Amino acid sequence: MSFFSDIDHILISEEEINNKVSELAAQISRDYENKNPVFIGILKGSFVFMADLMRKVNIYCDIDFMAVSSYGNKSASTGAVKINKDLSQDIEGRDVVIIEDILDSGLTLSYLKKYLMNRNPNSIKICTLLDKPARRVADIKADYFGFDIPDAFVVGYGLDYAERYRNLPYIGVLKSEIYTK
Ligand code: IMP
Ligand code: MG
Repeated sequence: MSFFSDIDHILISEEEINNKVSELAAQISRDYENKNPVFIGILKGSFVFMADLMRKVNIYCDIDFMAVSSYGNKSASTGAVKINKDLSQDIEGRDVVIIEDILDSGLTLSYLKKYLMNRNPNSIKICTLLDKPARRVADIKADYFGFDIPDAFVVGYGLDYAERYRNLPYIGVLKSEIYTK
């Protein structure tokens, strides 16, 4: 097996991603003009999307990152996540946009949103490239999203399987034997 041949099929191509990221950036640039928002990328998954999106957003803004990991049991009703890296700046009174790779159960983002709300920002919105509504557990919606996808495990464009495939330039579905070996 080699890198590309691990992929069963491409779900979203580079061109489709590029077009969608341009649309999202235009919409966000309009909505946040003169607001000097803070964009918060959630590591690691969002790093590719964030880098592309930020280069198409044409307003003044700050960029920061958080790194989180789940405690393993995703079905835990609290959805508490471990904060591995917190913000490096104060967000009090600021307009915050959280940038995520994928909204799945929604537990991570609903926890994070509450966590950041405690710091009294003026507003918090969520921008995710992918949305898997069929898997939602937490009551949370994205304010900006790129693509609704079916309930399949996807990799690429920042998303990993066991830390691999983040550097794939498109969103793909892995061959099933990759999980089972
Ligand atoms: P949630 O808390 O269930 O919404 O989980 C979101 C996180 O789970 C994402 O930031 C991803 O790291 C991971 N995740 C969920 N679905 C996928 C997938 O299909 N491929 C890769 N990672 C995923
Ligand atoms: Mg992950």
